[in-house]
Amino acid sequence: MELYLDTSDVVAVKTLARIFPLAGVTTNPSIVAAGKTPLEVLLPQLQEAMGGQGRLFAQVMATTAEGMVEDALKLRAIITDLVVKVPVTAEGLAAIKMLKARGVPTLGTAVYSAAQGLMAALAGAEYVAPYVNRVDAQGGDGIQTVAELQQLLTLHAPQSKVLAASFKTPRQALDCLLAGCESITLPLDVAQQLIASPAVDAAIAKFEQDWQNAFGRTSI
Ligand code: E4P
Repeated sequence: MELYLDTSDVVAVKTLARIFPLAGVTTNPSIVAAGKTPLEVLLPQLQEAMGGQGRLFAQVMATTAEGMVEDALKLRAIITDLVVKVPVTAEGLAAIKMLKARGVPTLGTAVYSAAQGLMAALAGAEYVAPYVNRVDAQGGDGIQTVAELQQLLTLHAPQSKVLAASFKTPRQALDCLLAGCESITLPLDVAQQLIASPAVDAAIAKFEQDWQNAFGRTSI
């Protein structure tokens, strides 16, 4: 599987790249806007924070297929192997097809239904990103959407991968992985929650206390 961070926080990426087996970093326009660092500066910084390893993802801003292709080429001029995120609209699907013909890898984003995700995969997207939490927030079932999309890709577009996105809890991420999806991107707080818990801290504190009581020190 592939584990990504969904962030523009360069310092956090450097810290977590040391801890987690990260496959790369995903961004979206809101994430980049929040950090206020333009992509031409941010993307090389993220690449360096990953130690030159891993894949980076950034999104087009144009709304026409031709404009999206232009944006994609600008983004790939910054990072040559960048995966270009394209919203799965009618124009976005046309752009994904055009970019596929040019050999540019894409991720179909803003996916709210399994059918929409399948169309992106058939158009040639390497990755498809269903928005788990946002589907839930609309009264839908994000995990069910991911499960259906994964099944559809396995049956009809096995060259494409689900990269599940939009998470508020580690449970949502685990449920996607249990549904068979191959990759996930997590915001920093959810990634940190994968390993942090008051129960773990309490268990370690108890080990230290027992050792201290027995040997008068906490070292071996
Ligand atoms: C991924 O493609 C999305 O940009 C992102 O994961 C959305 O996350 P959010 O719903 O927490 O904003």
